[in-house]
Amino acid sequence: MAKIRTQLVTWDEVVRWSRGLANKVIESGFRPDVVVAVARGGYVPARLLCDFMMVNNLTSIQSQHWTEAAKAEERAIIKYPYKIDLNGMKVLLVDDIVDTGESLLLAKNYILKNWGPSEVKVAVLQWISSAAKFKPDYYFIEVKEWIWFQYPWTRLEDTYQFFKKMLFEEGKYGRKRWTYQELIKGFMEWFDLDVGEDYFKDAIRLLVNNGILRKEDETYILVMQ
Ligand code: ADE
Repeated sequence: MAKIRTQLVTWDEVVRWSRGLANKVIESGFRPDVVVAVARGGYVPARLLCDFMMVNNLTSIQSQHWTEAAKAEERAIIKYPYKIDLNGMKVLLVDDIVDTGESLLLAKNYILKNWGPSEVKVAVLQWISSAAKFKPDYYFIEVKEWIWFQYPWTRLEDTYQFFKKMLFEEGKYGRKRWTYQELIKGFMEWFDLDVGEDYFKDAIRLLVNNGILRKEDETYILVMQ
């Protein structure tokens, strides 16, 4: 039984979903002058939307979550709050997913206040309707129950973080040693996710380089933090 609900998203699905999303925007009659990608998750869908909608203007804004020191509370911030002039232009703001929607809402409000567009509409590949604070203007898939989508652009990052979670949790219960095969088997059981050998190898190499695992002969040993 998987301990976190996850779903692998393939490159083919990303293209198919982006094409479907672009068609929804086109069918609505909205013709954006500029596409704005929300960094980092919106980059790939935004570029594909530009292609499918024949839009030449593409820029980005980085809105992200951070955890304040000593507080459990998470907040969204605009990482590089620069100003550009989009006076009178129609903006399509693009991200991969609306989960809580906090970072996307912050980006939308920042653009409306500081870049002077006539309109900002939001388009995402996926909308988690049970978790989100708002409904995007355009979405391709409505997700009813929360799940972690493993997109191709965070494959290594997620694999690394998931391994860390598994190792620290199992470490708490006294486990300290794994062979390579045990690491892979453990990962598959924990997350029901097969990211492929290249990503597994890269993530394990990163865990060793970052001092989380130590390799001794054919065994990986958890280094206590
Ligand atoms: N980013 C924020 N929420 C996410 C989710 N549920 N899956 C993948 N990426 C996300």
